[in-house]
Amino acid sequence: MISVLPTGSVRVRVPAKINLHLAVGNRRPDGFHELVTVFHAVSLFDDVTISSADDLTVTTSGGNGEIPADAANLAGRAAIRLAQQAGREPNVRIEIAKLIPVAGGMAGGSADAAATLLGCAHLWRLDLTRAEIAAIAIELGSDVPFALTGGTAMGTGRGEQIVPVLARHQLHWALAIAGGGLATPAVFAELDRLREQGLRSRVGAVEDILAALSQPDPAQLAGLLGNDLQAAAISLQPGLRRVLYAGAAEGALSCLVSGSGPTVAMLCRDAEHAADVAARVAGLDVCRSVRVVGGPAPGARLVADHG
Ligand code: C5P
Repeated sequence: MISVLPTGSVRVRVPAKINLHLAVGNRRPDGFHELVTVFHAVSLFDDVTISSADDLTVTTSGGNGEIPADAANLAGRAAIRLAQQAGREPNVRIEIAKLIPVAGGMAGGSADAAATLLGCAHLWRLDLTRAEIAAIAIELGSDVPFALTGGTAMGTGRGEQIVPVLARHQLHWALAIAGGGLATPAVFAELDRLREQGLRSRVGAVEDILAALSQPDPAQLAGLLGNDLQAAAISLQPGLRRVLYAGAAEGALSCLVSGSGPTVAMLCRDAEHAADVAARVAGLDVCRSVRVVGGPAPGARLVADHG
């Protein structure tokens, strides 16, 4: 693809993620929950253009919700943090073309932060390795390191410790994107509340899903997808039940809430089946929009460099 960019600009493309497996442990003293998760990057991307400027600004276009249009945005914080490390001013214009749903459980904000780190590092010609950029990513948020890596990976700790996973096949998904968003901290807090009332974890062993990923039949994966945050997301947004039923009724192999929701990911046999399920679900008026995506997708990468 040919991108026309003004001199002094770079553009980074960064994927959304879903969690094929999300086991949430106890809340730690620092407020985060111990996780074992399998991240899976999918072909739904934000494009982040970073240009030299007189001060720091963040603008967004597209997207389904409000994003703070100033340096409080996670992408702005990423530029500030990298500039501190480089001993310079964070004077860049960050323009985010959003396709990843805002507050949708697909780590869109984290993706934009990861893209900003990579873009600023190129624009400023910083001599940093991916590992050095990843160390800053960890400070910005639990999902930011995975947005750099992409692919399919196991995450532990609060989700920031990433190990790539062997995934033998392309997976095809229909995504049901909700009209509103869910705040991640509220969903974790709701899970704590439900657990105090006796809710027990329902996801299986991560080893089973890792084994299923290493063989080529997506139907083997279907029964193993699981997300401890799903009950909490449904508790906060009961209409999600209808979306999950709709996906199952329209023939998806398996449906689950993506991360903290409210996006619902529907695993399908192949691209044609995913397009079919997406079209049928769209006709039921249970969500704002549908998308057909594939995974694993690559992590944040430079798509134009006019620095
Ligand atoms: O790491 P990140 O800033 O994306 O996390 C947002 C919020 O989600 C945290 O402040 C916390 O409330 C919750 N969270 C959690 N345990 C994790 C990751 C996130 O409780 N492992």
